[in-house]
Amino acid sequence: MIKLHDKTFEPYLSAEQLAKAVTKVSSELTKDYSKCEKPPIFIAILNGSFMFMSDLMKELDFDLELSFVKFSSYEGTESTGEINELIGFNQDLKGRDVVLVEDIVDTGNTLEKVLKILEPSGAKSIKIASLLLKPTVFDKKYEINYVGLEIPNIFVIGYGLDYDELGRNIKEIYKITTN
Ligand code: IMP
Ligand code: MG
Repeated sequence: MIKLHDKTFEPYLSAEQLAKAVTKVSSELTKDYSKCEKPPIFIAILNGSFMFMSDLMKELDFDLELSFVKFSSYEGTESTGEINELIGFNQDLKGRDVVLVEDIVDTGNTLEKVLKILEPSGAKSIKIASLLLKPTVFDKKYEINYVGLEIPNIFVIGYGLDYDELGRNIKEIYKITTN
């Protein structure tokens, strides 16, 4: 059991289970992308995805490009309303195959906004790879193309995932205790 801020967490997914999930995603990606005409571009959405991205990249041995972006959402002026942007994003995606890499997809709201930002980029294809998916919460029209593991609607931390910024450096995934 570990304590982060005011909450306690118990072991949920072992390093071995996580490694298996990474291998599942990497073999599916290898099948689909190892023979692309142009190297695909992998874009990880920070902060949560850093550890998954790193382990995933070690298992992909075909030509690819990779980068990290940060999604940010803030209120603009009254006339513009909410502004969503990708910080650190400077590649030309025109005609390229793109894979967005996420740690976890919950409602899917974040990715929906990211996809909207990338819509005008002229990418040839945009697919999504996520280590974890909460299928009972996710209710969007777009598909999560590569999923490491499906989990129920519980709050988890570790392996990049945080509770109020703590827990990202833990090697395994823990779930919140309910009693
Ligand atoms: P969504 O927009 O609801 O799909 O949530 C996406 C983001 O919320 C993820 O990239 C995570 O940063 C965060 N998130 C969702 N579920 C969890 C969780 O169980 N633990 C930690 N962070 C989570
Ligand atoms: Mg995230």
